[in-house]
Amino acid sequence: MRVAMIGSGYVGLVSGACFADFGHEVVCVDKDPGKIERLKRNVMPIYEPGLDALVETNVKAGRLSFTTDLAEGMKGAQAVFIAVGTPSRRGDGHADLSYVYAAAEEMAPNIEGFTVVVTKSTVPVGTGDEVERIIREANRQADVAVASNPEFLREGAAIADFKRPDRIVIGVEDDRARAVLEELYRPLYLNQAPIMVTSRRTAELTKYAANAFLATKIGFINEMADLCEKVGANVQDVARGIGLDNRIGSKFLNAGPGYGGSCFPKDTLALIKTAQDNDAPVRIVETVAQSNENRKRAMGRKVIAAMGGDARGRKVGILGLTFKPNTDDMRDSPAIAIIQTLQDAGAQVSAFDPEGVEQAKLVLQNVDYAESPYAALEGADAMVLVTEWDAFRALDLARVKALLKQPVVVDLRNVYRPEEMARHGLSYSGIGR
Ligand code: UGA
Repeated sequence: MRVAMIGSGYVGLVSGACFADFGHEVVCVDKDPGKIERLKRNVMPIYEPGLDALVETNVKAGRLSFTTDLAEGMKGAQAVFIAVGTPSRRGDGHADLSYVYAAAEEMAPNIEGFTVVVTKSTVPVGTGDEVERIIREANRQADVAVASNPEFLREGAAIADFKRPDRIVIGVEDDRARAVLEELYRPLYLNQAPIMVTSRRTAELTKYAANAFLATKIGFINEMADLCEKVGANVQDVARGIGLDNRIGSKFLNAGPGYGGSCFPKDTLALIKTAQDNDAPVRIVETVAQSNENRKRAMGRKVIAAMGGDARGRKVGILGLTFKPNTDDMRDSPAIAIIQTLQDAGAQVSAFDPEGVEQAKLVLQNVDYAESPYAALEGADAMVLVTEWDAFRALDLARVKALLKQPVVVDLRNVYRPEEMARHGLSYSGIGR
């Protein structure tokens, strides 16, 4: 099947490359000529494990191509995906839909034959209705159906998530559209991935509900961690103790510095707005978002407390800047608020991250970027592990101790065992232990 993917960012590129790998013929379209030109040379705009190899294989096989020309990209396409960004709108946190609507408007005149327009971007309930209205108004002859097919990819594991999904959600109002999308995802039937067909609005809301629920799990365990610290309990054991109950489930119960990234912060905010506008406020999600926001700076204060309560003139070595490992994404990373809190209190910060430094430079000022984890710790008054990259899981602790001016370690991801740290003479604090 011929597929056009509008927007060659994270979602569009991963989905496009994976559809091509299933044997479909995919054209990825993007307005940014620099990005398209680099993609043609197999230079990826993002860091995602395995993506460059997947793109290269499918380009060579003639199933995947890139263009800035929307009309060319849509030629013969039975399915046209909208995979453009939906950032938080400045000021009120609503999802900014201007890129989605612009894509709908621009594609309308190029629709030939029956075409399914599929929104993959995360969009508030009712966006599909508006996309359909825009297309029909711009091209009255268009034989078009608009569907919703939210993505559930995690950065860093996106290809595996696409190829072995827990479920595929398809929101359609039209049987022909349903048939096209089922055909598109047919290769996944072999892996027995459940395909759920719902109404368009239900699919749109399912995406937000999933992210809000996952964010709530994290927010819950983070507050439990704070309580554990006060009452002398261990949050990892609490998480295991509740997670073994199948009704709760053990995933997404790792306490940490708060969630970040391009999805949870923005999607919870957008859901809160939609719910308020529809007079059905989601108070639980409002609390989760607020609690998570407060937590990030609280982590900075935790580091200051571990250094004895004063950060002035101290140097802090930060390990990990991205919002999670295996990505270069800095969006809403807890590291930003933590570093700013430390700097506001007068500390100097040196930092190391395996992939995130270039992005970090765009959002953080006055940070010394080190060439290795050890270089970041030289002469520091504290080591702070913010992101659990594999490279930080087996540090040479004797070397760490020798490099630090004060033997203070704050492990915001509970990577290390307290006994092991004590054995190396390091004064250690984790999260909720
Ligand atoms: C998330 C969802 O997991 C995906 O299903 C969804 O498709 C995606 O958003 C999206 O909407 O596009 P992602 O943001 O890539 O994926 O990352 P996650 O692995 O979910 O992590 C999000 C944040 O939660 C990270 O900062 C991570 O460190 C934190 N987290 C996660 C915890 O603090 N504890 C946990 O137990 C799990």
